[in-house]
Amino acid sequence: MVSPTARLAAPNVLVTGGAGYIGSHAVKALAAAGHDVWVFDNLSAGHAEAVGRLQAAFPERRITLVEGDITDAIAITQALRASSAAAVMHFAARLSVDESMREPAAYYRTNVIGTLTVLEALAASGVRHFVFSSTAATFGEPLHTPIDETHPQLPINPYGQTKLVVEQALAHLERATRLTSVVFRYFNAAGADPAGLIGEDHTPEDHLIPRAILAALGGEPLQIFGADYPTPDGTCLRDFVHVSDLADAHVLGLRRLLAGGASGAYNLGMGDGVSVREVVDTVARIAGRPVPHVTAPRRAGDPSRLVASSQKARTELGWAPSRGSLDTIVRTAWQWHTRHPHGYRTRA
Ligand code: UFG
Repeated sequence: MVSPTARLAAPNVLVTGGAGYIGSHAVKALAAAGHDVWVFDNLSAGHAEAVGRLQAAFPERRITLVEGDITDAIAITQALRASSAAAVMHFAARLSVDESMREPAAYYRTNVIGTLTVLEALAASGVRHFVFSSTAATFGEPLHTPIDETHPQLPINPYGQTKLVVEQALAHLERATRLTSVVFRYFNAAGADPAGLIGEDHTPEDHLIPRAILAALGGEPLQIFGADYPTPDGTCLRDFVHVSDLADAHVLGLRRLLAGGASGAYNLGMGDGVSVREVVDTVARIAGRPVPHVTAPRRAGDPSRLVASSQKARTELGWAPSRGSLDTIVRTAWQWHTRHPHGYRTRA
């Protein structure tokens, strides 16, 4: 039996998109921190299997999956009320830069209208704390690196723009209501749960590390999008951050809000710019086999370099990422993909 004090210390949390990649790692971190979790997910990209595995791994916690869409005001309001959640973590979104260039309206519908629908449901249900998944794509082509929170936000693709609109809406909502929020701008989320319970499973998969791993495992050769960027080896520089470290930041952000702390926005990365070619070499070394690859034209919407300063998260939230080396990121991703060659559809 959980004591009333423990319940106060770890109130219920509703996690939209909690069956997805970053969301499921956050659900694991919440469960480990003693929270009961309601996952609200339309399963268009998320996996019920991820939630089932988490519930099995944390039998002392309640992890409830509600299938629903964030643009459905009635469904999200009902889920919020049923959950008695004190806070919402909002991961549900469309998240491909490339797709957003081709289908901008779908991005505005899900990422802006969907998120505003969730925020109105919070207001109607009296929930006052919101943790929001934003992105380095809100900064656009950097004016300088590392990118700290004072860097101008000038997105160059609809994905980044839709996330920025929500960041701005949150500032207005805070003035009009008592909502407090923590915004996290992820740089390149990568890796998988070191315990091997959950991992990355996108269809189609368009992220670099899983694509390089799938190429090493005999899939399509990796295309390196652009080798003529103004960077040391001509390929883009990215700042990879382990998904479990991102998840920990969410729990710290939530604690800040629950303790009555002020709203804030935080960049989350390791501060290391790693080139696409360096990633390919690291995957080949850890896999112990080559990564077949070809050089292809630049991909639309890709900034040449994205490197974070996360000093603010370290200082204000006490964030101390511990799994951030590229080797650890690639090793955990390799473990996940080799054990789950068909993602969550792989039979144990
Ligand atoms: N890349 C390749 N070949 C591939 C896939 C990717 O060369 O098959 C390159 C990309 O061109 C880019 C780098 O590898 O230079 C990383 O690409 P990802 O698709 O893995 O990640 P992005 O940097 O495009 O996207 C990430 C997040 C987005 C976020 C964005 C910020 O996934 O949510 O960073 O721009 F918006």
